[in-house]
Parts: sequence; C-alpha cells; structure tokens
Amino acid sequence: MRKHIIIGVTGASGSIYALRLIRALLVDGHRVSVIFSKFGRYIMQDEAGLSAGDDFLEQLVEKYGLSVRNGELAEFKIGDLAAPLASGSVRVDGMAIVPCSMKTLSSIAHGTSASLIERSADVTLKEARPLILVPRETPFNLIHMKNMLAAGEAGAHIVPAMPAFYQKPESFEDLGDFIAGRVLNLLGIEQNLFTPWGEEQE
Ligand SMILES: Cc1cc2nc3c(=O)[nH]c(=O)nc-3n(C[C@H](O)[C@H](O)[C@H](O)COP(=O)(O)O)c2cc1C
Repeated sequence: MRKHIIIGVTGASGSIYALRLIRALLVDGHRVSVIFSKFGRYIMQDEAGLSAGDDFLEQLVEKYGLSVRNGELAEFKIGDLAAPLASGSVRVDGMAIVPCSMKTLSSIAHGTSASLIERSADVTLKEARPLILVPRETPFNLIHMKNMLAAGEAGAHIVPAMPAFYQKPESFEDLGDFIAGRVLNLLGIEQNLFTPWGEEQE
C-alpha cells in the first residue's frame, strides 16, 4: 500500500542516508514530503552535489534513474508553519529525520516546534505515528545522550547513523542503504536494500 512519509533533512553529516531513503521510497511508489533545514541543504550540496529546490526531483532522476518517478515528491519550506504537515488532521504514515542534527534532536526532545521539521515531528509523536530519528555526531556529550533518551521516552525510534560492516559494503550507497533499510523497517515498509543477516547472499 502506498504510504505518505515525511522526511526531514537537517544539518548533520550523512546526506547519503536521506538520499538513499528518499530514492527507495519513491522507487517503491510512495508519497514523500521532504523538508530541508538551512544546513541540511548546505550539507547535501557539499557532500552529494544536489541542491534542494524546484528541480530536486530532476536531480534525483539524473542520479538514480527514471524509477524515482514511480512515487510522488513534494518539498515544503522549513519556515512554513502553515503547511498541511503542521496539522495532525492530515493523513501521514510516519516521519524520519535523516540525518538528525543534535540541534534538531534537542528541539524535538523539548517540544519547541519552531520550524516545520520540529512541528511535524511533534505532530507525529502526538498522533502516535512512527517517528524515526537518525542522529549523527561523535563523540556524544551528555546533553546529546539525555536528549536521545527524552526523545526515545516520548516514543521516537533512535536509529543512529551506524551502518554495519557484516553486509560487506562496497560503496557509500551500500552504507546508506543499510541505514535506509532499517528506517523502512520501522516505518512498516518492506525493504530489499540489504540482505538480512543469515539469509542467502546473492
Ligand atoms: C559541514 C558541517 C557538518 C556538520 N555536521 C554535524 C553533525 O554531524 N552533527 C550535528 O549534530 N551537527 C553538525 N553540524 C552542525 C549543525 O549543522 C548545526 O548545529 C545546525 O544549527 C543544525 O541546524 P538544523 O538542525 O536546523 O539543521 C555540522 C555543520 C556543518 C557546517
């Protein structure tokens, strides 16, 4: 069944995780509402050479092929607190913040709802929908860890950007797919981005 998933992209390193997740959702025919923070845009441009904006889908087509057109992509402005996503009345099946900066993690843990990413995450929690946070920082300080605990206690799933190596990754894409696949599992979407441990390797 086609799902509607919100993806927040914030200013932590690891935009490959967001790109592989968005690619997988679109190829599978899902509806993706994406919101970039200012530094989410900056880092995606720096790390992956893609720029958010009107032709983001075109850039995805160029990078990943025509199959990303199977789904539907809409981008919302981070400051647009009047966007439909800001209301719990709009049907959404879940949200992932990938990668999730320590700043956005803190805002979610404290319920500030000051941007569309923060508000959408707040709505996702209050509507008891799956919220997946993919934090990336190293090392963590105690504040980071306490914020992860608070967000986890409020119902968020914490999926740190920690790809495994038992999959024998051969590329950045493989590393990205491992995390994207784990996020899809938590969103209740079947994934074929990596072979689960113990199953036949191709
Ligand atoms: C190149 C670069 C890399 C960064 N990497 C991280 C990171 O991995 N984790 C993190 O929490 N913040 C990182 N930051 C800092 C955040 O971008 C900054 O705290 C920003 O305020 C986050 O805001 P946002 O959550 O609204 O995107 C990085 C910043 C830059 C410029």
